[in-house]
Amino acid sequence: MTNEVEPRTSIVIFGVTGDLAKRKLFPSIYNLYKKGNLSKDFAVVGVARRDWSNEVLRENVCKSIKNEIGCDVDSLDEFCNHFYYLPFDVTSKDSYTELKSLLTDLDGTFNIPGNRIFYMAMAPEFFGTIAQNLKSEGLTETDGWSRLVIEKPFGHDLPSAQKLNEEIREAFSEEQIYRIDHYLGKEMVQNIEVIRFANAMFEPLWNNRYISNIQITSSETLGVEDRGGYYETSGALRDMVQNHILQMVSLLAMDPPIRLNTDEIRNEKIKVLRSLRSIKEEKMGSYFVRGQYGKGETNGEEVPAYRSEGNVDPNSNTETFVAGKLLIDNHRWAGVPFYIRTGKRMSMKSTKIVVQFKDLPMNLYYDKKKTLHPNLLIIHIQPHEGISIVMNGKKFGPTGETTPVRLDYSNTGSDGYNTPEAYERLLYDCMIGDATNFTHWDEVELSWAFIDSISSAWEKNQATFPNYDSGTMGPKDSDDLLEKDGHHWWPIEKEDLH
Ligand code: BG6
Repeated sequence: MTNEVEPRTSIVIFGVTGDLAKRKLFPSIYNLYKKGNLSKDFAVVGVARRDWSNEVLRENVCKSIKNEIGCDVDSLDEFCNHFYYLPFDVTSKDSYTELKSLLTDLDGTFNIPGNRIFYMAMAPEFFGTIAQNLKSEGLTETDGWSRLVIEKPFGHDLPSAQKLNEEIREAFSEEQIYRIDHYLGKEMVQNIEVIRFANAMFEPLWNNRYISNIQITSSETLGVEDRGGYYETSGALRDMVQNHILQMVSLLAMDPPIRLNTDEIRNEKIKVLRSLRSIKEEKMGSYFVRGQYGKGETNGEEVPAYRSEGNVDPNSNTETFVAGKLLIDNHRWAGVPFYIRTGKRMSMKSTKIVVQFKDLPMNLYYDKKKTLHPNLLIIHIQPHEGISIVMNGKKFGPTGETTPVRLDYSNTGSDGYNTPEAYERLLYDCMIGDATNFTHWDEVELSWAFIDSISSAWEKNQATFPNYDSGTMGPKDSDDLLEKDGHHWWPIEKEDLH
């Protein structure tokens, strides 16, 4: 579908020689261009330390698009001619002066009305410096708009996030700041609101009278790869829970907004984060479980333990797995656990939400020695995209017995539709000034406050790591966490569900 709004803008990518630009940003910009969602009047300026030229950048753009999308490089010339490279020192005023003059020239060449996106796709320690220099050197003073896109990690804990926020707020207002959480660009994460607020069969039941518990699993088969250095300072809690998982929790738990606009949706999400019960340090073990992978097998291959990965301390206390029980202290959710788990080197790559409804007050089928299967709503986020409902039906034939029936809707393949990359949507949203699927500072602040209490409890004790084998679904403690409440993780493979 071609959107009517085709923003004319320059996009400045800081850290253009890095992995994110190569794997996500170039292909996303290309897709927007191809679909007509980006005006033909656009420019991309890549900046980084390396001594590249426009030609080298363009070759890299072509290569990346060919690898990620698989299209013919010859057809890319016109697109690539919109890309410019500037060797850049983020601490030198001269670099900003050069960038300013290049952007002014490009506004003329491509008929761009001074609109600018500054995309931070590099080491976070420079975010503040760059933002301040952009302002002090006059790059944000144009006839159009300026927006700052910031990748995670947004700080390392609450104090560092506050410091970073103060630095960037000296140069950009909250409305100009787009903090990326790429989960918010995923098709099925965006579908949570629709499933909830457009269906009479769910929203009236969406509370503690009818829901027993909600489970969110985001498992990966990959290990830490070449990101050992970063991951050692982060761990699964900061890498996945502080942002992606808490964002999904807030979308699942928020009250219906009075309107579907940015402020109203954000306000409701913020209220959820404010209602998260903070856990006392001495009780942390009953609510949160951490794990670290040992060696094992994934996809038929022997893989090393986390402690043997590159740039990882051989005695590392960093968690590569987290499971937790979150409680939301408000009228709607009092007493309903939200179980979350995420980890690396697990048995499969899958992100899934399972909403388990409460049992009926009375089981009329009990005389058939059959307990009823609980009703489940499953939201498949990735790799499979879709929705399943598990209900009970009559077993076929001359019997009064019940059997669980699963109704599946799959996004993939419907109308040959190819789900756009999260980054493609988010870049487009930023261009049209829609910040709904970006994280507001209040959300970041509340999420860090919650996460800090967990990490500070953990930092005081050396964990007994490794405690799960690669290729499994995490440590036994994660199963015990639910078992003691009389629940269990729903299997994430379709075949195992019943
Ligand atoms: C990133 C984390 O934010 O999300 C990575 O830094 C993780 O460690 C990734 O692998 C998972 O994203 P996705 O889209 O593959 O689920």
